[in-house]
Amino acid sequence: MTRTTATDSVLAAAEEFAREELGGDVTGHDWWHIHRVVRMARHLAEREGADAFICSLAALLHDVADEKLNDSKESGLRKVRDWLDAQPMEEQDRAHVIDIIANMSFNGGANPPMRSLEGQVVQDADRLDAIGAIAIARAFLYAGWKGDPIYDPELKPRDAMTADEYRNGKSTAINHFHEKLLKLKDRINTASAKAIAEERHAYMAGYVDRFMQEWNGMGS
Ligand code: ADP
Ligand code: NI
Repeated sequence: MTRTTATDSVLAAAEEFAREELGGDVTGHDWWHIHRVVRMARHLAEREGADAFICSLAALLHDVADEKLNDSKESGLRKVRDWLDAQPMEEQDRAHVIDIIANMSFNGGANPPMRSLEGQVVQDADRLDAIGAIAIARAFLYAGWKGDPIYDPELKPRDAMTADEYRNGKSTAINHFHEKLLKLKDRINTASAKAIAEERHAYMAGYVDRFMQEWNGMGS
């Protein structure tokens, strides 16, 4: 798609906005997460033939609207929408970026599939950052921030808890691998991302196995 507007200056402004909004975050949504997702989104966009401007912009802005960093998802999306409205862009591009960001999250796997190839690419890039070596570091960082332990063999398995127990109770970092991270490779949209996901998944699954071996006293 040929655009008449200065896409480079919009991307530079988006980077500045994202750095301001996310600079101090310690929940795994820091600027370097965004940086990795943008780089991966550009790589996937090239391989999949997706629009690089839309993918880069949505990747840059995708966590600014996160519920954890805003009063609500709606107010987060409003903040991004207001920012986009002030940019010299086509309205159709603004709407596309907002649509991607609004539908990005894992949500227990319950969100509808991404409508556009660009949305699929950005969602894949975000999910790939939650699979592999960096993802292991992010999971333990997040668990520490939340006050969860690394592992607890006495914790009831999730399916044995009531909904209230689950909401109010503690989880563990290792639980998070089983509840989410080890499921992500089957929720990848594009073929290019799938190949990367498989390899990273194998590494991460091997890590969790090894963790349990050492926990059970057999890791040597
Ligand atoms: P994203 O915004 O990338 O979709 P999340 O907001 O769910 O992801 O989480 C950000 C990072 O923190 C991810 O790497 C994720 O695996 C990790 N994380 C989220 N929730 C937990 C949790 N309960 N325990 C450990 N890590 C978590
Ligand atoms: Ni993210």
